[in-house]
Amino acid sequence: MAETRLACALGEREALRLRSGRAAGLEILDLTASNPTRCGFAYDEAGILAALGDREALVYDPEPRGMLRAREAVCRYYAEREARVIAERIFLTTSTSEAYSWLFRLLCDAGDEVLIAQPSYPLFDFLAQIEDVRLVTYPLVYDHGWQIDFAELRARVTPRTKAIAVVHPNNPTGHFTKEAERRELERICAEHGLALIVDEVFLDYAMSGFEARSFASGTHSVLTFVLSGISKIVALPQMKAAWIAAFGPRRELKEALGRLEVVADTFLSMNTPVQCALPAWLAGAEGMQEQIRARTQGNLAVLDQLLLQNRFVARLEVEAGWYAVLRVPALGSDEGLAVRLVEERGVSVHPGYFFGFAGDGWLVVSLLTPEAEFRRGVEGICGMFVSARG
Ligand SMILES: Cc1ncc(COP(=O)(O)O)c(C=O)c1O
Repeated sequence: MAETRLACALGEREALRLRSGRAAGLEILDLTASNPTRCGFAYDEAGILAALGDREALVYDPEPRGMLRAREAVCRYYAEREARVIAERIFLTTSTSEAYSWLFRLLCDAGDEVLIAQPSYPLFDFLAQIEDVRLVTYPLVYDHGWQIDFAELRARVTPRTKAIAVVHPNNPTGHFTKEAERRELERICAEHGLALIVDEVFLDYAMSGFEARSFASGTHSVLTFVLSGISKIVALPQMKAAWIAAFGPRRELKEALGRLEVVADTFLSMNTPVQCALPAWLAGAEGMQEQIRARTQGNLAVLDQLLLQNRFVARLEVEAGWYAVLRVPALGSDEGLAVRLVEERGVSVHPGYFFGFAGDGWLVVSLLTPEAEFRRGVEGICGMFVSARG
Protein backbone atom coordinates (compact mmCIF):
# COMPACT_ATOMS: atom_id res chain seq x y z
CA MET A 1 0.00 0.00 0.00
CA ALA A 2 1.17 3.48 -0.92
CA GLU A 3 0.91 5.11 2.48
CA THR A 4 2.70 2.18 4.04
CA ARG A 5 5.75 2.54 1.78
CA LEU A 6 5.99 6.20 2.70
CA ALA A 7 5.46 5.47 6.40
CA CYS A 8 8.18 2.77 6.20
CA ALA A 9 10.63 5.19 4.59
CA LEU A 10 9.94 7.73 7.36
CA GLY A 11 10.30 5.04 10.05
CA GLU A 12 13.60 3.78 8.60
CA ARG A 13 14.99 7.30 8.43
CA GLU A 14 14.09 7.95 12.05
CA ALA A 15 15.63 4.61 13.15
CA LEU A 16 18.83 5.49 11.27
CA ARG A 17 18.91 8.93 12.92
CA LEU A 18 18.55 7.39 16.39
CA ARG A 19 21.20 4.72 15.66
CA SER A 20 23.70 7.32 14.53
CA GLY A 21 23.29 9.28 17.74
CA ARG A 22 20.78 11.78 16.27
CA ALA A 23 23.47 12.92 13.85
CA ALA A 24 22.83 16.27 12.27
CA GLY A 25 21.72 15.94 8.68
CA LEU A 26 19.50 12.93 9.28
CA GLU A 27 16.54 14.81 10.72
CA ILE A 28 13.35 14.96 8.70
CA LEU A 29 12.33 18.32 7.24
CA ASP A 30 8.60 18.11 7.80
CA LEU A 31 6.64 19.78 5.02
CA THR A 32 3.47 17.98 6.10
CA ALA A 33 3.05 19.97 9.35
CA SER A 34 -0.63 20.51 10.10
CA ASN A 35 -0.61 20.73 13.89
CA PRO A 36 -0.30 24.43 14.77
CA THR A 37 0.49 23.69 18.41
CA ARG A 38 3.83 22.22 17.28
CA CYS A 39 4.90 24.87 14.79
CA GLY A 40 6.54 27.40 17.11
CA PHE A 41 3.72 29.94 17.40
CA ALA A 42 3.45 32.12 20.52
CA TYR A 43 0.20 31.21 22.28
CA ASP A 44 -1.28 33.34 25.07
CA GLU A 45 -0.82 30.39 27.42
CA ALA A 46 -2.06 32.14 30.56
CA GLY A 47 -5.14 33.54 28.84
CA ILE A 48 -6.05 30.21 27.17
CA LEU A 49 -5.80 28.29 30.43
CA ALA A 50 -7.45 30.98 32.57
CA ALA A 51 -10.54 30.80 30.36
CA LEU A 52 -10.97 27.18 31.47
CA GLY A 53 -11.26 28.22 35.12
CA ASP A 54 -14.77 29.69 34.92
CA ARG A 55 -16.87 28.76 37.99
CA GLU A 56 -19.92 28.33 35.79
CA ALA A 57 -18.27 25.11 34.64
CA LEU A 58 -19.05 23.58 38.03
CA VAL A 59 -22.74 23.38 37.17
CA TYR A 60 -24.22 20.94 34.66
CA ASP A 61 -27.00 22.59 32.71
CA PRO A 62 -27.27 20.63 29.47
CA GLU A 63 -28.47 22.44 26.39
CA PRO A 64 -28.59 20.41 23.13
CA ARG A 65 -27.43 23.31 20.93
CA GLY A 66 -24.68 24.26 23.40
CA MET A 67 -24.49 27.06 25.97
CA LEU A 68 -26.17 30.25 24.85
CA ARG A 69 -23.23 32.53 25.63
CA ALA A 70 -20.89 30.28 23.65
CA ARG A 71 -23.27 30.34 20.69
CA GLU A 72 -23.57 34.12 20.99
CA ALA A 73 -19.79 34.34 20.71
CA VAL A 74 -20.06 32.38 17.45
CA CYS A 75 -22.72 34.88 16.27
CA ARG A 76 -20.27 37.71 16.99
CA TYR A 77 -17.61 35.88 14.96
CA TYR A 78 -19.97 35.95 11.96
CA ALA A 79 -21.13 39.52 12.62
CA GLU A 80 -17.48 40.57 12.23
CA ARG A 81 -17.56 38.86 8.84
CA GLU A 82 -20.70 40.64 7.68
CA ALA A 83 -23.00 37.69 8.28
CA ARG A 84 -26.05 37.81 10.50
CA VAL A 85 -26.46 34.53 12.38
CA ILE A 86 -28.85 33.97 15.25
CA ALA A 87 -27.91 31.77 18.19
CA GLU A 88 -30.97 29.53 17.80
CA ARG A 89 -29.56 28.30 14.47
CA ILE A 90 -26.18 27.30 15.86
CA PHE A 91 -25.26 23.87 17.18
CA LEU A 92 -21.96 23.42 18.98
CA THR A 93 -20.04 20.21 18.31
CA THR A 94 -16.72 18.88 19.56
CA SER A 95 -15.14 19.10 16.09
CA THR A 96 -15.96 19.88 12.51
CA SER A 97 -15.60 16.16 11.91
CA GLU A 98 -18.41 15.52 14.40
CA ALA A 99 -20.47 18.22 12.68
CA TYR A 100 -20.16 16.32 9.37
CA SER A 101 -21.21 13.16 11.09
CA TRP A 102 -24.35 14.81 12.55
CA LEU A 103 -25.24 16.26 9.15
CA PHE A 104 -24.80 12.91 7.40
CA ARG A 105 -27.20 11.47 9.98
CA LEU A 106 -29.63 14.32 9.50
CA LEU A 107 -29.67 14.26 5.71
CA CYS A 108 -28.96 10.67 4.69
CA ASP A 109 -30.22 7.12 5.04
CA ALA A 110 -27.74 4.24 4.65
CA GLY A 111 -26.55 4.12 1.05
CA ASP A 112 -27.42 7.75 0.25
CA GLU A 113 -24.85 9.92 -1.47
CA VAL A 114 -23.09 13.20 -0.79
CA LEU A 115 -21.14 14.97 -3.53
CA ILE A 116 -17.69 16.20 -2.56
CA ALA A 117 -14.98 17.99 -4.54
CA GLN A 118 -11.79 16.25 -5.57
CA PRO A 119 -8.98 17.01 -4.77
CA SER A 120 -9.92 17.62 -1.16
CA TYR A 121 -9.26 16.63 2.42
CA PRO A 122 -9.17 12.81 2.82
CA LEU A 123 -10.82 12.58 6.24
CA PHE A 124 -14.26 12.82 4.65
CA ASP A 125 -14.08 9.28 3.26
CA PHE A 126 -13.82 7.78 6.73
CA LEU A 127 -16.49 10.05 8.18
CA ALA A 128 -18.91 9.03 5.47
CA GLN A 129 -18.10 5.32 5.74
CA ILE A 130 -18.83 5.37 9.46
CA GLU A 131 -22.29 6.81 8.72
CA ASP A 132 -22.92 4.39 5.79
CA VAL A 133 -22.97 7.33 3.40
CA ARG A 134 -21.42 7.07 -0.06
CA LEU A 135 -19.20 9.98 -1.06
CA VAL A 136 -19.30 10.70 -4.77
CA THR A 137 -16.60 13.01 -6.02
CA TYR A 138 -16.97 15.88 -8.50
CA PRO A 139 -13.81 17.20 -10.12
CA LEU A 140 -12.16 20.54 -9.60
CA VAL A 141 -10.18 21.63 -12.61
CA TYR A 142 -7.19 23.94 -12.60
CA ASP A 143 -7.45 26.45 -15.42
CA HIS A 144 -6.31 29.96 -14.46
CA GLY A 145 -7.16 29.00 -10.88
CA TRP A 146 -9.30 26.19 -9.48
CA GLN A 147 -12.88 25.84 -10.63
CA ILE A 148 -15.75 23.43 -10.14
CA ASP A 149 -16.49 21.27 -13.19
CA PHE A 150 -20.25 21.82 -13.11
CA ALA A 151 -21.03 19.56 -16.08
CA GLU A 152 -19.41 16.66 -14.20
CA LEU A 153 -21.05 17.65 -10.93
CA ARG A 154 -24.51 17.66 -12.53
CA ALA A 155 -23.84 14.31 -14.18
CA ARG A 156 -23.10 12.77 -10.78
CA VAL A 157 -26.40 13.74 -9.11
CA THR A 158 -28.58 10.65 -8.67
CA PRO A 159 -31.89 10.03 -6.88
CA ARG A 160 -29.79 9.01 -3.87
CA THR A 161 -27.86 12.29 -3.70
CA LYS A 162 -28.80 14.27 -0.60
CA ALA A 163 -26.20 17.03 -0.35
CA ILE A 164 -23.29 18.79 -1.99
CA ALA A 165 -20.28 19.48 0.24
CA VAL A 166 -17.96 22.41 -0.44
CA VAL A 167 -14.77 23.26 1.40
CA HIS A 168 -14.40 27.07 1.28
CA PRO A 169 -11.50 27.70 0.97
CA ASN A 170 -10.61 24.18 -0.05
CA ASN A 171 -7.87 22.09 1.54
CA PRO A 172 -5.28 21.58 0.04
CA THR A 173 -5.94 23.55 -3.17
CA GLY A 174 -6.42 26.76 -1.19
CA HIS A 175 -9.08 28.27 -3.44
CA PHE A 176 -12.33 30.00 -2.55
CA THR A 177 -15.68 29.08 -4.08
CA LYS A 178 -16.50 32.12 -6.18
CA GLU A 179 -19.81 34.01 -5.94
CA ALA A 180 -21.00 32.75 -9.36
CA GLU A 181 -20.13 29.19 -8.32
CA ARG A 182 -22.13 29.64 -5.10
CA ARG A 183 -25.19 30.66 -7.14
CA GLU A 184 -24.79 27.67 -9.47
CA LEU A 185 -24.43 25.29 -6.52
CA GLU A 186 -27.61 26.75 -5.01
CA ARG A 187 -29.41 26.33 -8.34
CA ILE A 188 -28.44 22.65 -8.54
CA CYS A 189 -29.45 22.08 -4.91
CA ALA A 190 -32.82 23.73 -5.54
CA GLU A 191 -33.43 21.69 -8.70
CA HIS A 192 -32.72 18.38 -6.97
CA GLY A 193 -33.83 19.09 -3.40
CA LEU A 194 -30.29 18.87 -2.01
CA ALA A 195 -28.69 20.54 0.99
CA LEU A 196 -25.43 22.46 0.85
CA ILE A 197 -22.71 21.67 3.42
CA VAL A 198 -19.99 24.33 3.54
CA ASP A 199 -16.79 23.71 5.50
CA GLU A 200 -15.18 27.08 6.27
CA VAL A 201 -12.48 26.08 8.73
CA PHE A 202 -9.82 27.97 6.74
CA LEU A 203 -11.99 31.03 5.96
CA ASP A 204 -9.83 33.45 7.94
CA TYR A 205 -6.60 32.48 6.21
CA ALA A 206 -6.88 34.38 2.92
CA MET A 207 -3.56 35.29 1.34
CA SER A 208 -3.07 39.01 0.76
CA GLY A 209 -4.93 40.13 -2.33
CA PHE A 210 -7.72 37.56 -1.90
CA GLU A 211 -11.02 38.10 -0.18
CA ALA A 212 -13.12 35.70 1.81
CA ARG A 213 -16.90 35.83 2.03
CA SER A 214 -18.66 33.37 4.30
CA PHE A 215 -21.61 31.34 3.00
CA ALA A 216 -23.26 32.50 6.23
CA SER A 217 -23.67 35.91 4.59
CA GLY A 218 -26.23 36.81 1.96
CA THR A 219 -29.51 35.03 1.33
CA HIS A 220 -30.07 31.29 1.45
CA SER A 221 -32.43 29.83 -1.10
CA VAL A 222 -31.61 26.22 -0.10
CA LEU A 223 -30.90 24.42 3.16
CA THR A 224 -27.30 25.43 3.95
CA PHE A 225 -25.08 24.25 6.80
CA VAL A 226 -21.92 26.25 7.46
CA LEU A 227 -19.28 24.42 9.51
CA SER A 228 -16.28 25.81 11.33
CA GLY A 229 -14.39 25.52 14.58
CA ILE A 230 -11.48 26.59 16.69
CA SER A 231 -8.99 24.00 15.45
CA LYS A 232 -8.12 26.47 12.68
CA ILE A 233 -9.77 29.76 13.73
CA VAL A 234 -7.80 29.94 16.99
CA ALA A 235 -5.29 27.17 16.18
CA LEU A 236 -6.45 25.13 19.18
CA PRO A 237 -7.37 21.69 17.73
CA GLN A 238 -6.89 20.03 21.12
CA MET A 239 -9.66 22.09 22.75
CA LYS A 240 -12.36 20.49 20.62
CA ALA A 241 -14.99 23.08 19.82
CA ALA A 242 -16.74 23.60 16.50
CA TRP A 243 -20.21 24.35 15.20
CA ILE A 244 -22.88 24.05 12.57
CA ALA A 245 -24.75 27.24 11.56
CA ALA A 246 -27.96 26.43 9.68
CA PHE A 247 -29.72 28.59 7.07
CA GLY A 248 -32.45 28.15 4.50
CA PRO A 249 -36.10 28.48 3.59
CA ARG A 250 -38.25 28.76 6.73
CA ARG A 251 -40.16 25.44 6.59
CA GLU A 252 -37.20 23.23 5.66
CA LEU A 253 -34.98 25.00 8.15
CA LYS A 254 -37.47 24.53 10.99
CA GLU A 255 -37.68 20.82 10.30
CA ALA A 256 -33.89 20.47 10.04
CA LEU A 257 -33.32 22.39 13.29
CA GLY A 258 -35.80 20.13 15.09
CA ARG A 259 -34.12 16.97 13.83
CA LEU A 260 -30.62 18.29 14.52
CA GLU A 261 -31.73 19.02 18.06
CA VAL A 262 -32.62 15.35 18.50
CA VAL A 263 -29.15 14.30 17.30
CA ALA A 264 -27.49 16.89 19.55
CA ASP A 265 -29.64 15.96 22.54
CA THR A 266 -28.76 12.30 22.09
CA PHE A 267 -25.03 12.98 22.49
CA LEU A 268 -24.74 16.25 24.47
CA SER A 269 -21.09 15.93 23.52
CA MET A 270 -19.82 19.43 24.36
CA ASN A 271 -18.13 19.77 27.72
CA THR A 272 -18.95 22.75 29.90
CA PRO A 273 -15.45 24.20 30.62
CA VAL A 274 -14.71 24.43 26.89
CA GLN A 275 -18.05 26.14 26.20
CA CYS A 276 -17.38 28.63 29.00
CA ALA A 277 -13.95 29.36 27.51
CA LEU A 278 -15.09 29.67 23.88
CA PRO A 279 -15.98 33.42 23.98
CA ALA A 280 -12.53 34.33 25.37
CA TRP A 281 -10.73 32.05 22.93
CA LEU A 282 -12.62 33.44 19.93
CA ALA A 283 -11.91 36.99 21.13
CA GLY A 284 -8.18 36.15 20.95
CA ALA A 285 -8.36 34.72 17.41
CA GLU A 286 -6.79 37.67 15.65
CA GLY A 287 -3.50 37.36 17.56
CA MET A 288 -3.06 33.75 16.42
CA GLN A 289 -4.27 34.37 12.91
CA GLU A 290 -1.82 37.23 12.38
CA GLN A 291 1.10 34.96 13.31
CA ILE A 292 -0.13 32.14 11.10
CA ARG A 293 -0.80 34.41 8.12
CA ALA A 294 2.69 35.93 8.53
CA ARG A 295 4.13 32.38 8.46
CA THR A 296 2.12 31.13 5.48
CA GLN A 297 2.68 34.31 3.42
CA GLY A 298 6.38 34.34 4.36
CA ASN A 299 6.79 30.70 3.32
CA LEU A 300 4.93 31.34 0.09
CA ALA A 301 7.40 34.14 -0.68
CA VAL A 302 10.32 31.79 0.12
CA LEU A 303 8.78 29.16 -2.14
CA ASP A 304 8.42 31.62 -5.01
CA GLN A 305 11.97 32.84 -4.58
CA LEU A 306 13.33 29.27 -4.74
CA LEU A 307 11.10 28.25 -7.63
CA LEU A 308 12.41 31.16 -9.70
CA GLN A 309 15.69 29.24 -9.86
CA ASN A 310 14.13 25.94 -10.93
CA ARG A 311 12.18 25.54 -14.13
CA PHE A 312 10.94 22.02 -13.38
CA VAL A 313 8.97 22.79 -10.20
CA ALA A 314 6.05 25.24 -10.19
CA ARG A 315 3.34 26.08 -7.71
CA LEU A 316 -0.35 26.53 -8.31
CA GLU A 317 -2.14 29.66 -7.19
CA VAL A 318 -2.86 29.78 -3.44
CA GLU A 319 -5.75 32.02 -2.44
CA ALA A 320 -5.97 30.86 1.17
CA GLY A 321 -5.18 28.17 3.71
CA TRP A 322 -2.12 26.46 5.10
CA TYR A 323 -0.85 24.52 2.06
CA ALA A 324 0.61 24.92 -1.40
CA VAL A 325 0.37 22.52 -4.31
CA LEU A 326 3.48 21.91 -6.39
CA ARG A 327 3.56 20.67 -9.96
CA VAL A 328 6.63 18.54 -10.60
CA PRO A 329 7.67 16.39 -13.58
CA ALA A 330 5.58 13.19 -13.47
CA LEU A 331 8.51 10.87 -14.09
CA GLY A 332 7.20 8.18 -11.76
CA SER A 333 4.46 7.78 -9.19
CA ASP A 334 3.93 10.53 -6.61
CA GLU A 335 4.28 7.87 -3.95
CA GLY A 336 7.70 6.82 -5.31
CA LEU A 337 8.76 10.46 -5.39
CA ALA A 338 7.65 11.08 -1.79
CA VAL A 339 9.60 7.98 -0.69
CA ARG A 340 12.71 9.16 -2.57
CA LEU A 341 12.40 12.60 -1.01
CA VAL A 342 12.50 11.02 2.44
CA GLU A 343 15.33 8.62 1.63
CA GLU A 344 17.56 10.90 -0.44
CA ARG A 345 16.77 14.39 0.88
CA GLY A 346 15.21 13.83 4.28
CA VAL A 347 12.10 15.77 3.23
CA SER A 348 8.58 14.65 4.12
CA VAL A 349 5.74 15.82 1.84
CA HIS A 350 2.24 14.64 1.02
CA PRO A 351 2.00 13.04 -2.42
CA GLY A 352 -0.94 14.34 -4.44
CA TYR A 353 -2.87 11.04 -4.45
CA PHE A 354 -3.34 11.47 -0.70
CA PHE A 355 -5.79 14.29 -1.52
CA GLY A 356 -7.19 12.63 -4.64
CA PHE A 357 -5.23 14.50 -7.31
CA ALA A 358 -5.72 12.92 -10.72
CA GLY A 359 -2.49 11.49 -12.15
CA ASP A 360 1.06 11.99 -10.96
CA GLY A 361 3.26 15.05 -10.65
CA TRP A 362 1.63 16.67 -7.60
CA LEU A 363 3.10 17.35 -4.18
CA VAL A 364 1.43 19.20 -1.31
CA VAL A 365 3.61 21.20 1.07
CA SER A 366 2.58 22.80 4.34
CA LEU A 367 3.11 26.54 4.72
CA LEU A 368 2.92 26.18 8.52
CA THR A 369 6.40 24.66 8.80
CA PRO A 370 8.89 27.02 10.53
CA GLU A 371 10.60 29.14 7.88
CA ALA A 372 14.18 27.82 8.07
CA GLU A 373 12.96 24.21 7.89
CA PHE A 374 10.56 25.10 5.09
CA ARG A 375 13.35 26.69 3.04
CA ARG A 376 15.63 23.68 3.41
CA GLY A 377 12.75 21.34 2.61
CA VAL A 378 11.90 23.17 -0.61
CA GLU A 379 15.59 23.26 -1.55
CA GLY A 380 15.55 19.48 -1.10
CA ILE A 381 12.56 19.12 -3.42
CA CYS A 382 14.09 21.43 -6.03
CA GLY A 383 17.35 19.49 -5.78
CA MET A 384 15.54 16.41 -7.09
CA PHE A 385 14.72 18.25 -10.30
CA VAL A 386 17.83 19.95 -11.52
CA SER A 387 17.31 18.36 -14.91
CA ALA A 388 14.14 17.08 -16.56
CA ARG A 389 15.08 13.53 -15.56
CA GLY A 390 14.85 14.30 -11.86
C1 LIG B 1 -11.11 21.13 5.45
C2 LIG B 1 -11.11 20.54 6.82
N1 LIG B 1 -12.27 20.35 7.48
C3 LIG B 1 -12.30 19.84 8.71
C4 LIG B 1 -11.15 19.48 9.36
C5 LIG B 1 -11.24 18.91 10.74
O1 LIG B 1 -11.41 19.92 11.67
P1 LIG B 1 -11.73 19.56 13.21
O2 LIG B 1 -10.43 19.56 13.91
O3 LIG B 1 -12.63 20.68 13.66
O4 LIG B 1 -12.43 18.25 13.19
C6 LIG B 1 -9.92 19.66 8.73
C7 LIG B 1 -8.67 19.30 9.41
O5 LIG B 1 -7.59 19.58 8.98
C8 LIG B 1 -9.91 20.20 7.43
O6 LIG B 1 -8.76 20.36 6.77
